[in-house]
Amino acid sequence: MMNDIWHYPRHALAKQVLGMFESGLSSALVFFAARRMGKTEFLLKDMRPLANKQGWHVLYFSFLDVGSDAKEAFTLALIEFAIEMGEPKWEKFRKRIKGSIAGLHAGLEFRDPQQTKITLKEIITDLAKQNHKILLLLDEVQILSLDAKNKDFIAALRTVLDIHKDIIKVIFTGSSQVGLRRMFSRADAPFFHFGQNLPFPELQQGFIEHLVIIFNKATQRKLDTEKLWQVFLEMDRVPQLIRSLVEQLILYPDLTMQQAKKQLLQSLAEDREYVMIWENSSILERLLLRAIIMREAELFSIDTRTALAQQMGIDTLAVSTVQSAIRSLKRREIIGCLPERGIYDIDDPNFKSWIEHSVIEDEENGSSSKSV
Ligand SMILES: Nc1ncnc2c1ncn2[C@@H]1O[C@H](COP(=O)(O)OP(=O)(O)OP(=O)(O)O)[C@@H](O)[C@H]1O
Ligand SMILES: [Mg+2]
Repeated sequence: MMNDIWHYPRHALAKQVLGMFESGLSSALVFFAARRMGKTEFLLKDMRPLANKQGWHVLYFSFLDVGSDAKEAFTLALIEFAIEMGEPKWEKFRKRIKGSIAGLHAGLEFRDPQQTKITLKEIITDLAKQNHKILLLLDEVQILSLDAKNKDFIAALRTVLDIHKDIIKVIFTGSSQVGLRRMFSRADAPFFHFGQNLPFPELQQGFIEHLVIIFNKATQRKLDTEKLWQVFLEMDRVPQLIRSLVEQLILYPDLTMQQAKKQLLQSLAEDREYVMIWENSSILERLLLRAIIMREAELFSIDTRTALAQQMGIDTLAVSTVQSAIRSLKRREIIGCLPERGIYDIDDPNFKSWIEHSVIEDEENGSSSKSV
């Protein structure tokens, strides 16, 4: 991979994680963070290089990009990994699976759930026999659990990883709290208590100092670290947003930080994806999203419900109606609930900013085109 000068290395975190695996203290970790907080970047640019350097064989796999073929694509990735590690017997199988993904023939391996499980177990067992340290980086793994048909496959994955946990270590990541809960924290979930849940640490001031240094080098101009840090905090510490902001400042030297921030938030506001989600939500769902952002904690209280009813122009609003709207928002992975705190939050920080800027601010300015 090309060296990315903008990447702020997170050596300490990567070392800590690998140390936990090396010492046997842990064999599986689940990293949770909202979207665009830097999970993939950490796996690919910190975790994988460090692990490789220390003699691990690493497979990175993202469930985000594979759509409904998740099972097949993941199995294929494992097979290619096994071949790379010197297991030629999987070559024949690889061709068959590729065909099945391309829709060339029926894909017997995957039509028969029993066979699917056997295949998965066999490959992973083979991998474990190779006498190498193996690290699987499974990005956005909760996507697997979206499809109820994958339940057996997930259960088989858990069993075989459990058997070989001394040799095969796993990092799972996910950006949907609801989805991850479906896989990892519900008592009936196949991975219940399998991995250790860790919140993905937010980037600190060192990240901002790093961006400032690179900016200064690239432009011979100066950027105020403290001001950039403040803007980073204002943008909920989303690294992707602050990177875009710095890029804008490089391209347009006359732009002030606040102007750049405003432009960025405006372009987010134009994001069609969010407009669609908004438009496909009911009035009550929109009001609830707004309430969640405004941190109105007691969503089910009589006061909140009376206020909501008033805004909707109806007399009363039953608890069950609010519950069902909340359930729908959760199911669509628009909101999540932090189990330990019992409060709801918007899953995607960019969508949250979008609501803040295109709905709430517009309303306050009396110019909303997208009001509830
Ligand atoms: N350590 C870092 N150094 C520099 N930039 C970073 C770093 N981590 C993240 N970023 C910036 O943030 C962007 C988003 O990061 P990344 O794609 O890793 O997030 P994610 O948590 O995997 O989000 P998603 O849910 O969208 O997959 C990156 O493309 C990069 O611009
Ligand atoms: Mg990612």
